[in-house]
Amino acid sequence: GKVRAPTHIISTISDDRGTCLFYSRREEPCYAGVPMSSILEQGFGVGDIISLLWFKRSLPRYCTKFIEICIMLCADHGPCVSGAHNTIVTARAGKDLVSSLVSGLLTIGPRFGGAIDDAARYFKDAYDRGLTPYEFVESMKKKGIRVPGIGHRIKRGDNRDKRVELLQEFARTNFPSVKYMEYAVQVETYTLTKANNLVMNVDGAIGSLFLDLLAGSGMFTKPEIDEIVEIGYLNGLFVLARSIGLIGHTFDQKRLKQPLYRHPWEDVLYTK
Ligand code: ACO
Ligand code: LMR
Repeated sequence: GKVRAPTHIISTISDDRGTCLFYSRREEPCYAGVPMSSILEQGFGVGDIISLLWFKRSLPRYCTKFIEICIMLCADHGPCVSGAHNTIVTARAGKDLVSSLVSGLLTIGPRFGGAIDDAARYFKDAYDRGLTPYEFVESMKKKGIRVPGIGHRIKRGDNRDKRVELLQEFARTNFPSVKYMEYAVQVETYTLTKANNLVMNVDGAIGSLFLDLLAGSGMFTKPEIDEIVEIGYLNGLFVLARSIGLIGHTFDQKRLKQPLYRHPWEDVLYTK
């Protein structure tokens, strides 16, 4: 019989050989088995493409719309935030687009934009174990861990993050259940009694709402949800979104022909 040589790579999300003919007889590349022509014919958007390539399935319209809203709202937050600052400095050092982009992307992490996965992990664990917001926040404090998804440098209890409000509003209207989001809101209510800057941030909003999307859409089994949360897919939303803004900042600096950036001495505390 035929002997199949072992392959060095396994891939399950896309195929450019023109042989994924399940839907079509035409030779064309496919995302998760869906040919390009079908993607266009069905009027798919970026949310659908993310569904196919990240989650390997088509998701209902309200889910893909939510993904697109996350991307639109996180695309940029001005020139002063960590990522844009790095990108601007790098572009002004004469570096190319990719270098400027990745220099900004490299700031995404536990403090800036990359707290979505941990927010989902901790909120899910606390909610599923039935911890009250008080028990959850105080147990985090005892462990010396800041609550991911809570806290902002600029936003305050009396000056909330509009992006968080918009995401929550969309979910309240369109999601079958927002139990994880409501739990995160209760956590925020408690943290705000401690300090006025301990608001829910956009990472916390996306992290908690994506749990609701995964659990409420009926499109994922429990082990699949656990795997998505454990692997950590969700920071990818911020990385993808913010790339749009960082590319924009690179073009902006080049267009403005900005010179090499040097930080002013007066803004440094030189001390021993
Ligand atoms: N949980 C518990 N306590 C907190 C938290 C939190 N998430 N954030 C701040 N605090 C408290 C701490 O007691 C801190 O004191 P400490 O330095 O002794 O730990 C005090 O508030 C003041 O902290 P600062 O560092 O001055 O707060 P800052 O405004 O610099 O921090 C930050 C903002 C980095 C976002 C912080 O709140 C944090 O680490 N949050 C968790 C991570 C997170 O969600 N990041 C995503 C932000 S949104 C975005 O980047 C798109
Ligand atoms: C952002 O989206 O970049 C911000 O929430 C972070 C900030 O410091 O404003």
